[in-house]
Amino acid sequence: MSKRVYIFDTTLRDGEQSPGVSLNAKEKLEIAIQLARMGVDIIEAGFPIASEGDFQAVKLIAENVKGPTITGLARISPVDIDRAWEAVKYAEKPRIHIFIATSDIHMKYKLRLSPEEVLEQTIKGVKHAKQYTEDVEFSPEDGFRSDLGFICQIVEAAIDAGATTINIPDTVGYATPGEFGKFIADIRSRVPNINKAILSVHCHNDLGLAVANSLAAVANGAQQVEGAVNGIGERAGNTAIEEVVMALHTRKDYFDYYTDINTKEIYRTSKLVSRLTGMSIQPNKAIVGKNAFAHESGIHQDGVLKERTTYEIMNPEMIGLIQNNLVLGKHSGRHAFRQRLLELGFELEQEEADKAFRRFKDMADSKKEITDRDIEAIVEAEIRRIPEKFHLEHLHVFSGNRTVPTATVGIVIDGELREEAALGEGSVDAAFKAIDKVTNLQVNLLYYNLNAITGGTDAIGEVTAKVKYGDRVFIGRGISTDIIEASAKAYINAINKLVYEEENELQKVK
Ligand code: KIV
Ligand code: ZN
Repeated sequence: MSKRVYIFDTTLRDGEQSPGVSLNAKEKLEIAIQLARMGVDIIEAGFPIASEGDFQAVKLIAENVKGPTITGLARISPVDIDRAWEAVKYAEKPRIHIFIATSDIHMKYKLRLSPEEVLEQTIKGVKHAKQYTEDVEFSPEDGFRSDLGFICQIVEAAIDAGATTINIPDTVGYATPGEFGKFIADIRSRVPNINKAILSVHCHNDLGLAVANSLAAVANGAQQVEGAVNGIGERAGNTAIEEVVMALHTRKDYFDYYTDINTKEIYRTSKLVSRLTGMSIQPNKAIVGKNAFAHESGIHQDGVLKERTTYEIMNPEMIGLIQNNLVLGKHSGRHAFRQRLLELGFELEQEEADKAFRRFKDMADSKKEITDRDIEAIVEAEIRRIPEKFHLEHLHVFSGNRTVPTATVGIVIDGELREEAALGEGSVDAAFKAIDKVTNLQVNLLYYNLNAITGGTDAIGEVTAKVKYGDRVFIGRGISTDIIEASAKAYINAINKLVYEEENELQKVK
């Protein structure tokens, strides 16, 4: 009989530790709701002691997200554990996740503690967490590089102290599949009380082996896999959970394991995480990359047309990717548009659907055929937005190869139109400088990315702009068939987020 693998999602904790990623509480909640819809078993919502923002986000998720277990990370100290509990205690199913490093390198240089002291702190920490909740996870950090004998000793002690999940991390992504599988099998066979806990793994992708290592661990007795959507995370990232899920699903004949993930929600979850984190997905990324189901060569296309399974091991519909050849255009009506929104999984309020329809009609004036990917871009970038303190009313650019680019912007602020003009190194630079003059905020552009949603010179351009204000980062997105307009919208969207958050924080202080 096939066995269950629990999926522990750390997109909002380890994933959010990706360089340049910063999500606000509302965005984290939106991702957590979608993770619950996708059916993950555990959501690691953050690291409550790390900052007030992290604490509030974990609490918000614990209060509002039903279904999965909600956990918060804590170092082994009582203050950390108390803070984690304060945030997760509102959850239907709360868990405290505690960790301490166990490798010689970490104990000697980072912690400056002896193995005996680490063992003692582990027992104390687990017991402390256990006062609050039955559900306690313990992770020996840098587990794979730790001495096997010591790991077994500490795991046994943690279980005796009450840990219900033992998670073995390959913190620095050093393992290879054969070794990691054996490491897990050894822990299973050497720790006498191991059956009293769920055995979990948490792999990093420094050598590109995180998914392979996680699967090798499952084949050797791991019952929980930790990872992040799209594989985001520290350095080269974490195990991509969609890859583990689809590998177990597609190769059930080989693994004979199952997960409770609704695979049809994978595509939507991946897009949401990419949009809110501003981390684009490489086109050839397994499962969710733009090319994952595209067949370019004639021989392959011919094969797929004759029999899909000649070159496709998975069906795109299994991950919720609807490949609809029907295109909408200028003459398509409200009903057809609404129908397509529903097919794509967007359940919009009437007002949002009307707004989306108006944007669709505007787009259809400059672009003959509107595809599903275009519709997704309209909804994701333009409909579900925070309030617009600054609204782009008009934009004029003057540029050429022998002239200094100039931009004029008209921006509505609280109902009043303000215009400014600026010169720049290029048209986008000029537009951003003109916007800066209107907003009068000292922001630094950290990152700019332009992506064409579909092919052709009339493709919708999708721009992601990351700006830094003080020590905080805000991500904005904008779309248009005109790339300068898409850029200006993305930049203004990031600034609107900044203003929104500053105002919200002020309100909390009052
Ligand atoms: O990579 C790691 O070791 C971690 C632990 C805190 C679980 O993220
Ligand atoms: Zn990690």
